[in-house]
Amino acid sequence: MDFAKARLKTGYFFLGLFAVFIGLYPLRFIGLPYEESLLGSKPDTLLRSSIYLTAFYTHIFLGGLALLTGFSQFYKTLRRKRLTLHRALGKIYVIAVLLSGLAGLGIAFFATGGIIPSLGFAGLALLWLYTTANAYTSIKKTDIDAHQRWMIRSYALCFAAVTLRLYLPLFTGLLNIEFILSYKIIAWLCWVPNIIVAEIFIVRKLS
Ligand code: HEM
Repeated sequence: MDFAKARLKTGYFFLGLFAVFIGLYPLRFIGLPYEESLLGSKPDTLLRSSIYLTAFYTHIFLGGLALLTGFSQFYKTLRRKRLTLHRALGKIYVIAVLLSGLAGLGIAFFATGGIIPSLGFAGLALLWLYTTANAYTSIKKTDIDAHQRWMIRSYALCFAAVTLRLYLPLFTGLLNIEFILSYKIIAWLCWVPNIIVAEIFIVRKLS
């Protein structure tokens, strides 16, 4: 195996590992008291809103499902040998993104840290919905190249859930930057570089 192939395989392995680890992370919220999670920092009025709580849990559990199902879509073997499974998982991914993205857009307006994280998360939600809708409509038109490009973009944005959770301990722990300031920066940093890297990957590998 040449060096470039080995590097790509190692990259896939770590991406998969993070996708599984963070994809399962929302399970931690089952039965968890509010004060032991991010919800502990929310005002009581918000925590009494069943609409907010429904949106929050829809977002995190279906976001986890999107992260888990989305990754498998990039395996060539699955696409070649188990096309029906690829299609079924793809449909689950699209539905999960639609619901988690819409819910994410709603809860973005109540994000910890105010307007800067709110705009960061809302921008991410809108782009996630847009790229996924394009991935879906392009495959409906059997435009496989466009479908692949839009799925790479969509999943790079989905991966913001991973990068956010990598940056947070780095900023607050290692760099000792105060939590709210870190959060304001990371609400943008968790996805803007991801989409740039996705674009570079598309140009280098698929053009
Ligand atoms: C890609 C689009 C995404 C957007 C726009 C988004 C947006 C948000 C927003 C606005 C919050 C609330 C932040 C706050 O109130 O301060 C949040 C929290 C959360 N999101 Fe997402 N998110 C996305 C992807 C995901 C994915 C794929 C997962 C899957 C694991 C996920 C899991 C969570 C969890 C577990 C929380 C609770 C906060 C925590 O304890 O870390 N999100 N997200």
